[in-house]
Amino acid sequence: MPHLPRIVVLATGGTIAGASSNPASSAHYQAATVPVASLLAAVPALNSVARIEAEQVAQVDSKDMSFSLWSTLAARVVHWSAQADVAGIVITHGTDTLEETAMALHLSLPCAVPVVLTAAMRPSTSLSADGPLNLLDAVRVASHPDAAGKGVLVVLNQQIHAARDVTKAHTSAVDAFVSPLAGPLGFVQDDYARFAHAPARQAHAVMPMPASWPEVEIVASYAQPGRVAIDAMVAAGVRGLVVAAAGNGSIHETLAEALVDANSAGVAVVRSSRTGAGHVAFPAVPRPADGLFVSAADLNPYKARVLLAMALANEPGLAADPARLQAVFAGA
Ligand code: SIN
Repeated sequence: MPHLPRIVVLATGGTIAGASSNPASSAHYQAATVPVASLLAAVPALNSVARIEAEQVAQVDSKDMSFSLWSTLAARVVHWSAQADVAGIVITHGTDTLEETAMALHLSLPCAVPVVLTAAMRPSTSLSADGPLNLLDAVRVASHPDAAGKGVLVVLNQQIHAARDVTKAHTSAVDAFVSPLAGPLGFVQDDYARFAHAPARQAHAVMPMPASWPEVEIVASYAQPGRVAIDAMVAAGVRGLVVAAAGNGSIHETLAEALVDANSAGVAVVRSSRTGAGHVAFPAVPRPADGLFVSAADLNPYKARVLLAMALANEPGLAADPARLQAVFAGA
């Protein structure tokens, strides 16, 4: 028996741990019910890939993800990866907000060993459950020597993605996860995993996971928006706003006026795009007073919100310094 790498699986719930009384249904089920021990037992092939240890960190539907669970998860990753013989960490998660958790971990983890998130679009009881293969592939990638130094990774549907780039782009298909601008980093096929390229950005603990998070919300630009929600959020003390703007970061004039007022009141404003792909052009100089707010680059509104909240938590003065905030978004 060859010496197998020691891999730790941290389970948080999601559809990968979902169950239904009807195996023919992939849509009607209860997420986050099957314990991690049962998920592992359903994939005997894992035992020829790695020595697995598992911890049930949480059992939640990821629509209910929280900052405190992110902190707990990050602390468990740091705990396990500090053990000399742990070769990698796999995190099982719900697909709905996986990209946000991946972004928070990407920004905050030292990544001493490979950290790989995986999930499933179909519950564990489904006739064609995708969770078992995704779990096996994630363990294969976490054990792979080429996974080291590539930051937080996401493995689903035989593809390897960078945590910063990946997004869920379909409600139900098993190939729901894509990296719109960067493409996948590589693929897994049976016992063969290959990286085609390295991630363009590797954060490596640029920002500690905040102990307390500022209120940062998302607003969208569309035909004839009102400003009532923005005004109410500013009055309630919001610290940052990400705009899911149209096209290449265009904001309806009514919304732009409300956002200029919000910024004058000390609220950081960042423009992302609601299109789902592409880069919001950087202003030569961000001039919030003219509605020229900081660009989120290619981060979608949900990932941009994670970065803005973490950046403001660690450096509250960024709200008043758009040029520096722009540099944070350019580099993250
Ligand atoms: C969840 O995100 O926890 C439920 C949905 C899923 O995992 O696909």
